[in-house]
Order: sequence, then structure tokens, then C-alpha cells
Amino acid sequence: MMGDLTGRVAIVTGGGSGIGRACCKVLAEYGAAIVAADINLEGAQKTADDIVAAGGKAYAVSVNVMELESVQNLMKTVSEKSGRIDILVNSAGILDPTRLPDMTVERWDRMIDINLRGTFFCCQQVVPYMEKNKKGAIVNITSQAGQVGGWMAGVNYSASKGGILALTKALARHCGPLGIRVNDVAPGQIATEMTAGRGDKPDGIAVGRLGTAVDVANAVYFLASDLSDFCTGMTVDVNGGQFMRS
Ligand SMILES: NC(=O)c1ccc[n+]([C@@H]2O[C@H](COP(=O)([O-])OP(=O)(O)OC[C@H]3O[C@@H](n4cnc5c(N)ncnc54)[C@H](O)[C@@H]3O)[C@@H](O)[C@H]2O)c1
Repeated sequence: MMGDLTGRVAIVTGGGSGIGRACCKVLAEYGAAIVAADINLEGAQKTADDIVAAGGKAYAVSVNVMELESVQNLMKTVSEKSGRIDILVNSAGILDPTRLPDMTVERWDRMIDINLRGTFFCCQQVVPYMEKNKKGAIVNITSQAGQVGGWMAGVNYSASKGGILALTKALARHCGPLGIRVNDVAPGQIATEMTAGRGDKPDGIAVGRLGTAVDVANAVYFLASDLSDFCTGMTVDVNGGQFMRS
């Protein structure tokens, strides 16, 4: 079947919760062997356990994406244990609702360090492993907030996600000749642990509901598989029609 991921190894950062966990499960359903990587090892282990219980292949690895050495260890561990790396999904991230007047240097730096620098480190460090196979797919999770500004998110969050949009395009140019595609998915309002308790309503969403983590994971699957072989440097919007491009 075109789009089958059997024999491929997929690392999902943020795989211990929400969208990352859904990506792990959807990619596993299509046959990929999953590495759920998260700073919350307990959450990542639960993801891996669920996949193994459903008949798939998975294990968990602890990583702090903002630390270069930790990211290098992740790639080395997976390469040694699984023999190859085919897919990287960067879903690790934090949200911060701090309003403009209250934004501090610490909050700004922490956001950029985790969401943007963390995504960069993972992309940079996975490329040599994918290059060996002359093939690879990287999918970064950005956000509608990075495209049009966030309603409920701080300016630091929107800036980090806008940075990921630009990073993805720059990497796509560099990695295309290496056989590696780099794309991103821009979720709108998705009900996950990250947004729980915010009281989000489907105002302005054409389909009339909030998104689910699986809605996002299905788009990630498309970009991670050979179904999107001619797609790179692009963004798939998963927002129920809340933001439509001209
Ligand atoms: N939920 C939404 O509405 C929404 C919308 C747009 C974009 N996003 C993006 O989707 C991604 C996933 O969000 P989610 O809703 O699943 O959130 P979540 O909080 O459920 O999951 C995020 C995961 O990232 C992990 N993480 C945080 N810091 C880390 C670090 N330094 N190193 C490794 N792992 C770390 C957390 O432990 C957690 O498991 C994020 O990048 C988020 O910005 C979410």
C-alpha cells in the first residue's frame, strides 16, 4: 500500500502527551516503529505501552529538546537501538498565556529555547542519520498563532511558532538535495492537555468544533509518508477553517 510505513523508524518529540501521542499512535497504525521522546518519560512510556499493547512497535526515550547534548543522545540511542531513523515529528512545546506588559526576559527566552531552538536542534541532529539513507521526512508542529498571531497565547509563543514556519522553509531548501523533506503542520484550536481549562469555544471555526489531536496526527501522517513525496517546505493548516489562506 502506498503510504505504508512498515520498516520505518519514527521519532516523535512531545510523544508523551496530546498531539505528539496521537502522532505516535497514528504512525504506528500505518506500520512505523515508534520512539516516543519526551521530557516526561512517564508519559512517553505510557504512549509506547499503549502502542505495544495494540500490537505495534514502540519504546520511550527521555529528552530535553532545548539541550543539544540531550538531543544528540536521543539520535544516537535510536540509531543504535533501531538501526535507522526515517521520520522525525517535532511536537514538543510549551504554551504561555502571559500578556504583553508582563512578558519577561526569562519567559521570552524559555519559550524560544524550547519551541524554536528545540525544534532546530532536533532537525539539525537528525539530518546526518537520514542522509545515510538518502531519504527522510521531518514534520514540525507550528501553530495558527505563528501565522496570524494568537488570541490566547503570548507574543513569545506566536514568535516561536513563526520562527518554526521560517525554519521549516530554510531547512527544506538545504535538505531537498539530500533526499530529506521538511514540512510543517499548523494546528488551530485543538483540545489537548495544553489547552485544557482555557474554555476554548469553536467561535469562527467553519466546521463548528474544536480539533482533536488525531485530526492533527492524520495531516502529520500524510507529510511523513511517501504520499507527500513531492511536498517540501509547505504548511498544512489543520484549523477547521478558522484561518483560510488567500
Ligand atoms: N493544543 C493546541 O491547540 C495546539 C495548537 C497549535 C499548536 N500546538 C502545538 O502542538 C504541539 C503539541 O501540543 P499539545 O497540545 O500536544 O501539548 P501537550 O502539552 O499535551 O504536549 C506537549 C509535550 O511536549 C513535552 N515537552 C515540553 N517541553 C519539553 C522539552 N523541553 N523537551 C521535551 N519534551 C518537552 C511535554 O512534556 C508534553 O508531553 C506543541 O508544539 C504546541 O505548541 C498545539
